[in-house]
Amino acid sequence: MQEFTYSDTTLMAESVPLRAVAEEFGTPLYVYSKRSVLDHCRNIERAFEGHPHMSFYAVKANANRALLRLIGEEGFGADVGSVGELHVALAAGIHAAKITFSGVGKREDEMTAALRAGIHAFNVESTEEIEVLDAIAGHEKKKARILLRVNLDIDAGGHAYVSTSLKQNKFGIPARQSAEVLRWAKGLAHIDVRGIHSHIGSQITKAETFLRAAEALVSLLRELAVAGIHLTDLDFGGGFGVQYRGYIAHPQIPVEEPEELNLSAATLIRTVAPLLRETNCRLSIQPGRSVIAHAGVLLVKVLYRKQTEDKLFVVVDGGMNDLIRPSLYKAYHQIVPLELFAREQESADIVGPLCESGDFFAIDRRIPRVERGEFLALMCAGAYGYVLSSNYNARPRPAEVLVDGSTRTLIRRRETIEQINEA
Ligand SMILES: Cc1ncc(COP(=O)(O)O)c(C=O)c1O
Repeated sequence: MQEFTYSDTTLMAESVPLRAVAEEFGTPLYVYSKRSVLDHCRNIERAFEGHPHMSFYAVKANANRALLRLIGEEGFGADVGSVGELHVALAAGIHAAKITFSGVGKREDEMTAALRAGIHAFNVESTEEIEVLDAIAGHEKKKARILLRVNLDIDAGGHAYVSTSLKQNKFGIPARQSAEVLRWAKGLAHIDVRGIHSHIGSQITKAETFLRAAEALVSLLRELAVAGIHLTDLDFGGGFGVQYRGYIAHPQIPVEEPEELNLSAATLIRTVAPLLRETNCRLSIQPGRSVIAHAGVLLVKVLYRKQTEDKLFVVVDGGMNDLIRPSLYKAYHQIVPLELFAREQESADIVGPLCESGDFFAIDRRIPRVERGEFLALMCAGAYGYVLSSNYNARPRPAEVLVDGSTRTLIRRRETIEQINEA
């Protein structure tokens, strides 16, 4: 499961020393472990204990085609949030019949492309969207299968930006309006109402939060059945949290307390699956982070140490344009040197080169002392890392490398300044 480990004092990805990868491909650099991707997929699948279900990998977490291909080969379908993601999923060999399309703002051309491709279902979020989809499906002489996303008004905890099922959030239709909307949608000529969908947020670490959502969905389905609305599909969404703190341990790196004990997607899924199965619906989930977060690291190089009256800054060559999670969500990534040798620990802000005070990876973080030219790894950076990267400050996006045993393959070239300069 843990494919990034220290072999003595050298941080490895599977059998490859990460320092060699950083030197070969340059930094900032995303590095993924194939075995980790496969293990995470398999652990999620095992959590269903043989019960029928479908896992639609949320492509938004990481849309690298080589990684998507691996995930598809493990039997996962894909949940896409745009026509771009639809194309990547299809190009990665995921069959359209295993693709769902979620999102609050699907454009007409995106719906048309998805209908023409023959995707499994649209997770729809408003009556106006359903009307538009009905019209497009009519024009295309097709029926669009839909699941209605319901807003359960549940606080998923964590950062407000990744909580999606509070009544003030833009997502879904209030659960109490769902009967009326579903009944109306069932009357539309080109809409095939299949079920309901819920996704309450991301990086949820508490099993009780998922249990609350599962209970709410089970009772909603029961109420709908009493009202004569019988549904066949239930998509529980994603959001299964992962351990970021203290992911990697070594006597020479500071101890960090994990978010929760035994935190894993498999444990969270096992908590809710029996309840969801009671509905006798076709069950599906949309895991993103829990598939890919642990499978990737971001490597950066120390440019400068800078001591001021108040602070020690370690300035590195990667910034918020390469990994925005700390700046955007105050997200935590464990940061460790690629080579460990006996040295003191110190407290530092680990910051990027961009012209923003928000351009940091860690504030007042205890780390082993590092010098100019050394490499650092930001752990658990596989999800919402590269996909959220940008060209801010006209910085080319980093390269991506996949390690498989002792081999390493470039799976996305580093962007060039010429590319970002193109008209
Ligand atoms: C509709 C939907 N499904 C699934 C996901 C994946 O969430 P996570 O990566 O937390 O599993 C998201 C993420 O925002 C989402 O919006």
